[in-house]
Amino acid sequence: MKRGLALAVLLSTALAPVDAQTPRGATDAGTARALQKNKDYVAPPDRVPAHFPAGWRFTPGGAPFVARHAIVVSDAPIASRVGSEIMRRGGNAVDAAVATEFALAVVYPEAGNIGGGGFMVIHMADGRNAAIDYREKAPLAATRDMYVGPDGKVTDQSLIGPIASGVPGSVAGLTAAQARYGTLPLSTVIQPAIRLAERGFVIDSAMARTFESYAHNLAEFGGAALFVPGGQPLRAGDTLKQPALAKTLRAIARRGAVAFYQGPIAEAWTSELAKQGGIITMEDLRRYKPEWRTPIRSTYRGYTLLAMPPASSGGVTMTETLNILEGFDSLPPFGSTGWAHVVGSAFQRAFVDRNAKLGDPAFVNVPIKELTDKQYAARLRATIGTRATPTTSLKALGEGTHTTHTSVADARGNAVAVTTTLNELFGSSVYLASAGFFLNDEMDDFTSRPGVPNMFGLVQGEANAIAPGKRMLSAMSPTIVLDPRGKLLLVAGSRGGPRIITSTTQVIMNVLDYRMSLADAMSAPRLHHQALPDTLRVEARGLAPAVNDSLHAMGYQTDINGTVGRVNALMRVRGGYEGVSDPRGSGGAAGF
Ligand code: DON
Repeated sequence: MKRGLALAVLLSTALAPVDAQTPRGATDAGTARALQKNKDYVAPPDRVPAHFPAGWRFTPGGAPFVARHAIVVSDAPIASRVGSEIMRRGGNAVDAAVATEFALAVVYPEAGNIGGGGFMVIHMADGRNAAIDYREKAPLAATRDMYVGPDGKVTDQSLIGPIASGVPGSVAGLTAAQARYGTLPLSTVIQPAIRLAERGFVIDSAMARTFESYAHNLAEFGGAALFVPGGQPLRAGDTLKQPALAKTLRAIARRGAVAFYQGPIAEAWTSELAKQGGIITMEDLRRYKPEWRTPIRSTYRGYTLLAMPPASSGGVTMTETLNILEGFDSLPPFGSTGWAHVVGSAFQRAFVDRNAKLGDPAFVNVPIKELTDKQYAARLRATIGTRATPTTSLKALGEGTHTTHTSVADARGNAVAVTTTLNELFGSSVYLASAGFFLNDEMDDFTSRPGVPNMFGLVQGEANAIAPGKRMLSAMSPTIVLDPRGKLLLVAGSRGGPRIITSTTQVIMNVLDYRMSLADAMSAPRLHHQALPDTLRVEARGLAPAVNDSLHAMGYQTDINGTVGRVNALMRVRGGYEGVSDPRGSGGAAGF
């Protein structure tokens, strides 16, 4: 099926009632239709038309989804719709974000989860800001070299199967956030997810393709009956009902997180896992706690960023990158050689620090203050010359598959940026039928062995070595940007491993530096540099050939490959909010 048609089928669900099962006609709910309904909306007048290279897959000038009062942008339109309905019923942005996340655990099983973890940044209109870290932790039985085989090589057991998982944090984190900042009863917020699990929802073509690609793994690790019935992966148009998940969610709705971490449900799924050789115990679950953290607060050209501190590397790495770039009075024209050089070099330097110095702050001393300091950034900026810098020479100087992001804002100006993941699609592929969920494969985000790249090619250091009870370093970057008057401007975040950081940062820069409309900022080509491998990655047809030639002449190795991230973002505008789900994916916005 062509991408456009798949997108239309998906978006059609956004129009339907929360628990509807049958897609209505193929309508692009998010664009012209919504614009017409909102008479107060004024497209931001200060935006500058974007120019993309010839042959780039998206054209500038696209229309955003527009909502007058409240908006949710996520990777699953039906989940966005759940969040929107919760706000219509009087809930705030935190209620809506939590409702959307539980709905994603049902309708987006490749990444939405109760068996994974995530990070949430909250900005309340009354000025309170908060961040909650519900990243998974290494089980107590984990050891530093558990993924190094007898031959000294790193095995794939951090990625697939029963010992790939960290202790899940999602249920603890989401319920804690909702209890502290939400306004509705937890049961109201989880209800739509329960209904979707119980009554089922219709599989769209994008999801069917994912089931097809992962059918082998899903069948091997416990998901055969539900996802590959009779040996055939679920197809577009099939209805997926998840009674075991509905039961687990109902227990959480009634009793809170304790229903997941203690008692019969926890006993059932830990013993099911143990039978397969898994190592997460009831004691691991008893000890799991999410951490409230102070968001990293930084400034960029007069705007304020609220971003995620460790155990995510997102906030530090974005801040360090933007601090380096802020020292240039203005950035080279978008898409030019200078743009690729300067932006790529800034990411490269920030990732050198990220890969070597960041880890769980409960275990390692993370130099957050130094890394986010503008003077430090100035020293790094001074090392950007007229040619590519090999990452190996920056190292010395450094001494001194699947995730889903949701952006939410409500009528009061409260906002939530939340990113969650199982890591690879369907995590470890281990499906715990007793409780109805997939377990993550987040252990691969640790350094299995210093110097050996992980799934994302990240070469990381000792700071992120495995230890029992430790959180593995993440790249998830839920971020909120306030305008110079301190009012909400943007909410953004992404999926894509380390490309989460670079894609989110570029959308923010496209809006702030290049003054693109949100739609253009999202469809503009992106680049990526993560220090090692020492290549400047660019999206296919995202660079003019002459720019690519110039970069080679400057000593860059370019890797023209795939996409960089999948961002879901919203922007406050006169008359409401604009929301855009990344055109590289099949998500959608909902609101009113
Ligand atoms: O936390 C992290 O950085 C990774 N586990 C994120 C994985 C991811 O984004 C996969 N999605 N494409």
